[in-house]
Amino acid sequence: MRLVSVVGARPQFVKAAVVSRALRAAGIEERLVHTGQHYDSLMSDVFFSEFDLPVPYRNLGVGSCSHAVQTGEMMIRLEPVVYDCEPDGVVVYGDTNSTLAAALVAAKLCVPVIHVEAGLRSFDRSMPEEVNRVLADRVSDLLLAPTSDAARQLRSEGVTAPVEVVGDVMVDLALETLRRLPAKPAILGRFKLRSKAFALATIHRASNTDDTVVFARLIAGLRSTQMTIVFPVHPRTLALCKTLNVGSGDNIITCEPLGYADMLALQTHARVVLTDSGGVQKEAVTVGTPVVTMRDRTEWTQTLDEGWNVLAGNDPREIADAAQRMPPKRRIYPYGQGDSARLIVEAIRTHVPRTKRMASCAS
Ligand code: UD1
Repeated sequence: MRLVSVVGARPQFVKAAVVSRALRAAGIEERLVHTGQHYDSLMSDVFFSEFDLPVPYRNLGVGSCSHAVQTGEMMIRLEPVVYDCEPDGVVVYGDTNSTLAAALVAAKLCVPVIHVEAGLRSFDRSMPEEVNRVLADRVSDLLLAPTSDAARQLRSEGVTAPVEVVGDVMVDLALETLRRLPAKPAILGRFKLRSKAFALATIHRASNTDDTVVFARLIAGLRSTQMTIVFPVHPRTLALCKTLNVGSGDNIITCEPLGYADMLALQTHARVVLTDSGGVQKEAVTVGTPVVTMRDRTEWTQTLDEGWNVLAGNDPREIADAAQRMPPKRRIYPYGQGDSARLIVEAIRTHVPRTKRMASCAS
C-alpha cells in the first residue's frame, strides 16, 4: 500500500510524526508532502528534525496569502504530485487550509481521502478551521474520529463512509514525551522558572489576532493574572505584541515559537495554560495542567469535563479569574491513552484496500 500524507502547519507536523512512524513500522509506504503553509524554520524545520520525520517527498512552497489564493495554489501544485504518486489513499490532518486543499485534490482524482481528526465541530462558521473541517469530512472516504461524540456528529450529518473512533495522536506523542522529560527540564532554567509558579500562554487564532481591540483584551487578561507568564509568540501575533509592548515592564516573558519537547515541558510544569489553540488545550489536560481557553467555544468539549478547561472568551476579568482556580482532583484522558497511531494504521488496513480507481477519473 502507498499513501500520500499532506502536512503544512505546525500541529500537522506533530500529528504526522506519530502516524508516519506507525505506518513505516507496518510496512506501508508513505510519501510526505509539505504544502509550505508554515515556512519559518521555528514553525516547520525544527519539528522535522525533532521528530525524525521523513524529508518531504515534495515541498509545494505555498506561503502566506489570502485563504482563496493559499488554498487554490496548494491544489494546483498538489494535483500533479498526487497524480504521479498513484497512491491508494491521501491522509489529511485536522482543519487547516492544507487539509482542505489536499482533501479536494484527492477527492477529485478519486483517491480515497483519509481524514485524521474527523467530526470535530465548533459550530462557528466564522472560523476558517470550521469551514475546512466540515468540507474535508464531506469528501472523506475514511473518517478517523478522536471521540465517540465526533463519530456521532458525523452520523448526524449523514456521513455514510466508514467512521472509526481512534483517539487522538497528539496524546500518543504527549504521553511518550512526558515519560522522557527530565525532572528539571532545561527550558525552566532558561526563563528562571519554578515548577507550578508560572503560566504559559499562546495566541494565534484569526478571531483573536485580526482585531487589535480583541487582542488587547486578551493581553489585559494575561497581565491581570499577576503571574509570570511565558508567551511563545506565533508569527501572526508578533506585530500586535510589538504594538502593545507585550513583555516590556509587565509579567509576560515573550519568546520565539518553541520546539515540541520544550513546549510540553512548560505545559507540564505550568500552574495553568492560557491558549486559543486546539492542540494545546488537549496536551495540557493530558499532562494534568488546567487550561483557560481564550475563545467562546471549543471543539475539544471533553477537556471541559471536571473543570480542567474553562472558556473565558476575550473578557480580561474572566481570563484572570479562571487562571487563579485550583486544579481539579481527578485526572481525565478523554482522547485515549496513547494507542491512537496503532488504531489509525489498523483502520487504514481494514478500509483502504489497494484499488486503482484513480486513472479512470483523473482526466
Ligand atoms: C494555521 C491554521 C490553524 C492552526 C495553525 C497552527 C488555517 C486556516 N489555520 O493558522 O488551524 O491551528 O495554523 O499554527 O489553516 N506566518 C509566518 N511564518 C510561518 C507561518 C505563518 O510568518 O511559518 C504568518 C504569516 O504572516 C501569515 C500568518 O502567520 O499571514 C498566518 O498564517 P496561516 O498559515 O494562514 O495560519 P495560522 O494562523 O498559522
